[in-house]
Amino acid sequence: MAPEHSPEPNARPDPPAVPAAVPPAAPFDAATPPAAADPAGLDSAAVARQVMRPEFIADPYPLYGRLRRWSPVHHLAELNVEVCTRYADVVTILSDPRFQKQDPDDGRPIAPSGMQRSMLMLDPPDHSRLRALVNRAFTPKVVAALRPRIADIASGLLEAVTARTGPAAGRADLVADFAFPLPATVIAELLGVPVADHDRFHAWSSRIVNITDATRPPEVRADAAAAQRELRAYFAELIAARHAAGPAAPHDDFLAGLIAAEEAGDRLTLDEVLAMCALLLVAGHETTANLIASGTLTLLRHPDQLATLRRDPSLAANAVEELLRFESPVQRTGRRTNAPVELSGHRLPRGTTVVALLGAANRDPAIFPHPDRLDLRRANANHHLAFGRGIHFCLGSPLARLEAEVALPMLLERLPRLALDTDRPEWRPNSTIRSLRALPVRF
Ligand code: HEM
Repeated sequence: MAPEHSPEPNARPDPPAVPAAVPPAAPFDAATPPAAADPAGLDSAAVARQVMRPEFIADPYPLYGRLRRWSPVHHLAELNVEVCTRYADVVTILSDPRFQKQDPDDGRPIAPSGMQRSMLMLDPPDHSRLRALVNRAFTPKVVAALRPRIADIASGLLEAVTARTGPAAGRADLVADFAFPLPATVIAELLGVPVADHDRFHAWSSRIVNITDATRPPEVRADAAAAQRELRAYFAELIAARHAAGPAAPHDDFLAGLIAAEEAGDRLTLDEVLAMCALLLVAGHETTANLIASGTLTLLRHPDQLATLRRDPSLAANAVEELLRFESPVQRTGRRTNAPVELSGHRLPRGTTVVALLGAANRDPAIFPHPDRLDLRRANANHHLAFGRGIHFCLGSPLARLEAEVALPMLLERLPRLALDTDRPEWRPNSTIRSLRALPVRF
C-alpha cells in the first residue's frame, strides 16, 4: 500500500474524542492536599525508587492512584520532570499547542531517539508534512480491507498451536506463538519488508523500546540506541537493494511509495524515510502485541467478563476499548512547554518537561466510575487516552483495533478451555511500554 498525500486528518470511528464534560482538574485545595500530606510519603526520591520495583511493574495502578489523589502534578527531581496523572491534565498536555515535542529553544526532540526525524518526535510543520504522506494508508476504511488477511494469519497461528503433539501439546506461550507474530506479520506485509525477518524485528524493537524509559540503566539505553542504528542500517540496505534492482523490479507496497516520495526530492529526505520505516515497524507491532497479550491475561483474570465475551462476541469492539483503558500498552508520553502554563493549580514555566501518564488518566475516577473494575460493557470505555489525543493521535489505531477485534474472539473460540499456566506472569521492566515477557497458557 503506497503512502499518499492527504490533507485530511485520520478519521476516527468512534464518538467525540473529548467526552462531553471533562471536569476541569481542580487546583490544590483541602480535598487534594499537597504531596507532603500523603501519609505513605510521596517525595520525589521515594517515587523514583518505586517505579523500577517489580511490584510497580506488575501493578503500577496503586502508585498512580496515590499520585493522582495527593500530587497530580508531581515534580520528579531525579529526572527534572512533572509527572501528570489526572485525565483532564493529560488531555490538556496532549491537545494544547503550548505543549510540544521539540525543545522550544534549540528544536531538539525532547525524547532521545534514533527516530529523531519521525513524525512522533516532531512538531508542525514537519509533523504535518510527514503525517500527511502516510495518513490515508491507515484510515479505518482502508484498514478494514485487511480483515480477511488478518483473520488468515491469526487462524494459521492458532492452527499451529493446536496441532502440537507430544509434551508441547495443549500448552502455548501466547506472546511468542500468537500475540507477537500476528501484528509483526501484518505490518511487515504492509510495509513490504521480508516477513521471514520478523524475529529480527522483534529482537530490535524489544531493545529499542527501552530508549523510551529514562528510568532504565545507561547500558540498557545505550543498547537501545545500538538497536536503532542496526534497524536503520537494515532499512538503508533494503532501500539500496530496491534502487539497485531499478524499475525492472517494480514493487507496489508502502516502502515503494516512500522511496518514490524521497526520489521526488522535496517531500521526504532519506533520513525521514528511514525514520518513518523504523517508527511504523516498531509502533506497528510492539504495542499491538502487548494489547493482545495483556488483554488476554486481563480476561483470564476476570472469568465473569471472559464468560460474557464468549457468550456475546458482538461485544468485541467495546471489549477492546475497555482492555486498552484497563491495561494501556503505552503508559506515558512526554512534552515540553513553549509558554508558561497552569495545570491543576501548578504554574509551569516555559521549558518544563511534562510526563503525561496515559495509564493513570485511564483509571481516573472523575471520568471512569470504578476505574479499577474491568467492565466490557462500560459505556464510555472508548474515551480512554491509550492512543493519545490531538495531532499525534495514534496513526495506527484503526489497524490495532482491528487486529485485536479479530484476534481475541478467535482465540477464545478456538481454545475454549484456555487457562493461565502461571501464577505470576512476568512483565518486562519497562515503565513506558507495558509488555509481558511471556504468557504461558494451557488449553
Ligand atoms: C494497541 C496498539 C497501539 C497503541 C496503544 C498505540 C499508542 C500510541 C500513542 C499513545 C501514540 C501517541 C504518542 C504521543 O502522543 O506522544 C501513538 C502514535 C503513533 N502510533 Fe500508535 N499505538 C498502537 C498501534 C500502532 C500501530 C499498529 C501503528 C502503525 C501501523 C502505530 C503507529 C503510530 C504512529 C506512526 C504514531 C505517531 C503519530 C504522530 O506522531 O502523529 N501505532 N500510538
